Amino acid sequence: MTILHIDSSINGEQSASRAISRSIVDQLRAINPTADVVVRDLVSEPLPHLTLDAFADSSVLDEFLAADTIVIGAPMYNFTLPTQLKAWLDRILIAGQTFRYTAEGPEGLAKGKRVIIALARGGIYDSGSPAAALEHLETYLTDVFNFIGIEPEFVAADGLAISPEQRAASVAQALGETVRLAA
Ligand SMILES: Cc1cc2nc3c(=O)[nH]c(=O)nc-3n(C[C@H](O)[C@H](O)[C@H](O)COP(=O)(O)O)c2cc1C
Repeated sequence: MTILHIDSSINGEQSASRAISRSIVDQLRAINPTADVVVRDLVSEPLPHLTLDAFADSSVLDEFLAADTIVIGAPMYNFTLPTQLKAWLDRILIAGQTFRYTAEGPEGLAKGKRVIIALARGGIYDSGSPAAALEHLETYLTDVFNFIGIEPEFVAADGLAISPEQRAASVAQALGETVRLAA
């Protein structure tokens, strides 16, 4: 079994999404001690913006295709995902490899992989809340992974900018949820 661990927060050791994604990987390793873990830190080793020439290099796609489980740390920046993570997605949403268009519509070709995403958001975007319409992180990641045939699972720490107490409680709750995810 191969686990691909991806992080995209610029906040280093202070990062909530990194703490949660690390906990998810730790839980998965505990139940799969022989698993190979491949780490891709999109901040310490950023991928450049997509160019036509970049399509000639399939190394990022190959790494994704070789993984059984993908764990992604995804903070909300300006209501959506970090550009570092978008650059990674640009390399794995490839026609003919992870999806194809058919007469019946698009078909996802990456079925069978497990994708677990650690979300960290400063505000609260629950359905029905005043800011719900500004949520373009979880909704976007759901749509793109659905498009390639995967139903992603989420662990979210929300309201992190509201107060230090709220932040501590939200992160603790998300870390607790990672135990259930690996079960
Ligand atoms: C550049 C930047 C932009 C942000 N934009 C938003 C935002 O639009 N909405 C929000 O709820 N929080 C926003 N935040 C707060 C982060 O989502 C929050 O700090 C979260 O903890 C970031 O995840 P991390 O701790 O893994 O870095 C932003 C933070 C940064 C640094």
